[in-house]
This record gives sequence, structure tokens and C-alpha cells, in this order.
Amino acid sequence: MRWALAFVVVLVGLPLAVGHAQPLSPFATAKATTLLRDKYGCLGCHRLGREGGQLAPALHDVRSRRDAAYIAAIIRDPQRLRPGAAMPRTRMPDSDRQLITRFLGGDVANREIANREFANREPAATTPVPSDGNGAALYRTWCAGCHGITGRGDGPNAKALPVPPARHADAATMSQRPDDTLYDTIDGGGAIMNRSARMPAFGGSLSPTQIRALVAHIRSLCRCVGPAWSRDGTR
Ligand code: HEC
Ligand code: HEC
Repeated sequence: MRWALAFVVVLVGLPLAVGHAQPLSPFATAKATTLLRDKYGCLGCHRLGREGGQLAPALHDVRSRRDAAYIAAIIRDPQRLRPGAAMPRTRMPDSDRQLITRFLGGDVANREIANREFANREPAATTPVPSDGNGAALYRTWCAGCHGITGRGDGPNAKALPVPPARHADAATMSQRPDDTLYDTIDGGGAIMNRSARMPAFGGSLSPTQIRALVAHIRSLCRCVGPAWSRDGTR
């Protein structure tokens, strides 16, 4: 019995040990999962096991497709590695990034390789990223997968989410939201606004000008404005 158990433990530990990093402790594994699910918006787009979105490749088996340097690099700066990919750079403390990176198979020892390999790479000269002021194009690229092109909360990924994506075309709801609240949710993601963490944070990849263009686009979808108290006439 003991031997059988030991054998199972070795088998389970094996994939984690490949790539010479120490396997993560159960505590660290649980923490990494919680970060992906409840703090950062990763599972809005990615599947992990049975839960999560369908807009991007699954994360639980990414190590079987990508090497450690690739995994580390895409988490650090997706646009630099894959210009135009609809994955925002997520701002997070180094300790969280290292843990998530290790959990997914981009172990810390290899970060140095990743640094050398990708840090000095010039961003591609032409990226299909929409221009600053074009809220509609930005929305199509970054938001429509969940919120739907016309903002009815019916994007192809909506059914994979535990909380329905906001209906930006719904004037009754959107007229209760100040522009600042919309801005902060897009910039910082759902979790910091006490909303579903499946709403990702985009402030790591989109500029303030682009986020303002998205707020304006939401206003054109709902054909509404925020509450009177929130409009000081200077915008
Ligand atoms: C808005 C959607 C979105 C969010 C949020 C997101 N990603 Fe991604 N991610 C993508 C897309 C799309 C790709 C595929 C990029 C490509 O290959 O062109 C990707 C690729 C990846 C890959 C490589 C997968 C592979 O098989 O090539 C990893 C690893 C990854 N993301 C990790 C993360 C982590 C960790 C987070 C959270 C901190 C996250 N992603 C948040 C959309 C997202
Ligand atoms: C992976 C799916 C996903 C993507 C991609 C996504 N969202 Fe969301 N978004 C959600 C979900 C789910 C909610 C609802 C959160 C809640 O109500 O708890 C939400 C809520 C919001 C809200 C809050 C609305 C309110 O009622 O206050 C805003 C604003 C928003 N999203 C804007 C955007 C914008 C702009 C983009 C693109 C830059 C975007 N979202 C991309 C899933 C997504």
C-alpha cells in the first residue's frame, strides 16, 4: 500500500519536476490557482481544468505546447511577444508573476533565458492594434468576445463565464454608472471594483486615451450619459 502510494506521488510529481524546478507545494499551487481565478482576469479568457473562458488556449496544459521561456515572456509582456494578440499585459507584483509563471511551467530559472531572448526584441513595426481614438475598433478587438459587438452581453465567450458580461447597450444600467467607474473597471479589472474577476484589467496594455475612447464607445452603445452628479461639464 505504502509503495503504491509512493509510486503515485512520484508519477504526479513528475511533470512538475521536469524542467528542474522544485515542484510547487500544495499551498503554492492553491495560491496560484486563486490568483488566476479570483484576482487577475486570466480565467475570463483561458480555461484551467473545467472552468474558464474559451477565448484563448487552455492554461493547464500550456507546458506541453510552449517552453518555459515562452510562458514567462507572454505573461510578462504579451504584446511584445505576440504583437496584436488580444491578451492584455496584467500588472502584478513580481512575486505573483513568478508564482503564476512557475505554476504554468515557465519556471523561475528560465526567466533569465526569457530576459535574454525577448527583452531586447523590438516590437514589430506594424501591429494590427487599433489606433488610439477608435473606440469601436478597440471594442471589437478587446471586448466583443465577451460583451458582444453591439454590447448586449452576448459575445461568443459569455456562456463560459459564471457572471454574465455587462450589457453596455442597456441604458437603464449604464446611465447609473459614472464615466469614472467605467474607466476604473476597464483599467483595473473587475476584482478591484468588487465585481467578477472574469472582467480582465486592460490598463497594462491600453493607454488612458484608448480607455477614454472605450468609455465614449460604451456611451454610444447605450445612448446614455452617466448620472448628473458625476458630470461636471469639463469632460
Ligand atoms: C482578454 C483575454 C486574455 C486574458 C485576460 C489573458 N489572456 Fe493569456 N492569452 C490570450 C490569448 C488570445 C492568447 C493567445 C495569444 C497568441 O498565441 O496569439 C493567450 C496566450 C497565453 C499563454 C500562451 C498559451 C499558448 O498555448 O500559447 C499563456 C501562458 C497565457 N496567455 C497566460 C495568461 C495569464 C497568466 C493571464 C492572467 C494574468 C492571461 N493569460 C490573461 C488572452 C488572454
Ligand atoms: C473575458 C471576458 C471579458 C472581456 C474580454 C471584457 N469584459 Fe468587461 N466584463 C466582463 C464581465 C463578466 C463583467 C461583469 C462583472 C460583474 O458584473 O461582476 C464585465 C463588466 C464590465 C464593466 C462594468 C460595467 C458595469 O456595470 O459597471 C465594464 C465597464 C466593462 N466590463 C468594460 C469592458 C471593456 C471596455 C472591455 C474591453 C476592453 C471588456 N470589458 C472586456 C467580462 C469581460
